[in-house]
Amino acid sequence: MCGIVGYVGPRVATPLLIEGLKRLEYRGYDSAGVAVMNGAGVETVKESGKIARLEALLASAPIHGTTGIGHTRWATHGPPNQTNAHPHTSQDGTIAVVHNGIIENANVLKKMLEGRGYKFTTDTDTEVIAHLIQECFDGVLEDAVIEALWQVEGTYGIAVISSVDSHKIVAARKGSPLLVGLGEDEHFVASDVSAILAHTRQVVYLDDGEMAVVDRNGYRIIDLNATEISKKVAHIDWDLGQIERGGFAHFMLKEIFEQPQTVENTMRGRLLLDEATSKLGGLNLTDEELLSFNNIVITACGTSWHSALIGESLIEELARVPVEVEYASEFRYRNPIVDERTLCIVISQSGETADTLAAMREAKRRGARTLGIVNVVGSTIARESDGGIYIHAGPEIGVASTKAFTSQVVALLLFTLKLARLRDLSYLRGREVVDGMLALPGQIQQILDRAQEIENIAEEFKRASNFLYLGRGYNFPVALEGALKLKEISYIHAEGYPAAEMKHGPIALIDDLMPVVFVAPHDSVFDKITSNVHEVKARKGRVIAITSREEPALEGKIDYEFRIPETMDLLMPILASVPLQLLAYYVAVMRGANVDQPRNLAKSVTVE
Ligand code: F6R
Repeated sequence: MCGIVGYVGPRVATPLLIEGLKRLEYRGYDSAGVAVMNGAGVETVKESGKIARLEALLASAPIHGTTGIGHTRWATHGPPNQTNAHPHTSQDGTIAVVHNGIIENANVLKKMLEGRGYKFTTDTDTEVIAHLIQECFDGVLEDAVIEALWQVEGTYGIAVISSVDSHKIVAARKGSPLLVGLGEDEHFVASDVSAILAHTRQVVYLDDGEMAVVDRNGYRIIDLNATEISKKVAHIDWDLGQIERGGFAHFMLKEIFEQPQTVENTMRGRLLLDEATSKLGGLNLTDEELLSFNNIVITACGTSWHSALIGESLIEELARVPVEVEYASEFRYRNPIVDERTLCIVISQSGETADTLAAMREAKRRGARTLGIVNVVGSTIARESDGGIYIHAGPEIGVASTKAFTSQVVALLLFTLKLARLRDLSYLRGREVVDGMLALPGQIQQILDRAQEIENIAEEFKRASNFLYLGRGYNFPVALEGALKLKEISYIHAEGYPAAEMKHGPIALIDDLMPVVFVAPHDSVFDKITSNVHEVKARKGRVIAITSREEPALEGKIDYEFRIPETMDLLMPILASVPLQLLAYYVAVMRGANVDQPRNLAKSVTVE
């Protein structure tokens, strides 16, 4: 969501802060700002809009200083204008704060501070923190931050500087990710490792309730009682090339085209051919424990929720264990039937989604064992779950999730294979799945090699105002995902439905202007979906079909067709989703939309 970066060391801070903010821009981006110690005091520059606007402001009036903090904002309290952009400063101008998260008792604190003479100039909850730290300040910044945070309710990742206790950054975390980057004679703080990866790979992740006091020479991690905590240093093995566009017009396109490798990376070293099963080192479960669960609950949000739906079908079909899929945001406020015989699988690309994290904590509280299927190594869900499977898709920068989705499905397949082979899946059937999985990277590549065909289809439909996506069985979640991709980056209204449900309502929408995307490969429900295609055509709808072979039954009923390679039904979602990602991408580009940073969206939704 919002992004934080901070620097303390011998170098001029602003170029490093701007560079870090640009790398964070994908997380949230309606305004940005920096605050730097300029020798005389804290100087703050902020601007609405893209980082480039802030950069231009700084170019015309540079700030010279070697300690600073920066922020890119995704508005929660108050409109995304220059005033509400972070950093926010205390009334006396000595303290600057950047903040991710939401202060729930901001109004109460504001009233209290107003009573003591503080004047508020922004609509944000963050300004409260800045004034509160000033109110508590007695010469030592970390002491003031501790005292302030004891009064704060809500979630935060903050970084604070002071012109009185200068040359240090104090950072604190509760519910919003933060880490310290360790360099030679210099240190960083950041909400996301990509902000500092150009400078260091050694990081210390803060956990909730922890603070970092960072200066040029070192760092200390303490809790809110000022007690020192010893933490492990983690090594990040992503390289910089992975977070750059590498010749592609957009990150999203790069990430779509990476899928032959990312799908392979998810499987790498984990398939046991001779036993037709998988080896998953991070589950932290013995085979006996894995067999002991009565039911499985999968919880996630957005695209990850779509992969969860595919996981449900996979596990129930192959392993015959009952599975329920829940939106994390709903799960956490229900009274779900979850106990110590429940396995709760939590799926999240970022590993930081607030609702998903809260759902996982709720499941744990009820005694369930938790497994995280996560991309970002070291993220909160990865660290707090009892075990898990890293999908190893590499950094996903485009806001619309693509490669993480296909890798999540592969991770779910690996898990299902393991569980199903422990139960009663035969070697032969297991081996068929393994062989099918091994063929996926090459098959995805075949689809990508024909991206131009999808671009041509996009050209035909780029002006449409609505789309319907229909699929059945394993491809119903693919229809949901295709519709989500299109709406989030092109702003065209799109809905996904199980194809047969169409006649219970959505069929009323079909006329000669309505494009209907059928995900109709040759699988066990193909004959069923054929009748749905006929129903649409009878109402003059315009049919785009994702098929996998020549289908006499569809002759004359399809306006545009894209053929994907054949595979097992249960592997089809991985192949079928790729042309739909491309379709969304090309339509959005043709409509002039900002594909990597769609309006109102953020990559990692760290507020409820
Ligand atoms: C859609 C998209 C979102 C995320 C959702 C969950 O393209 O990216 O719907 O899937 O916000 O995010 P994670 O997987 O990080 O928990």
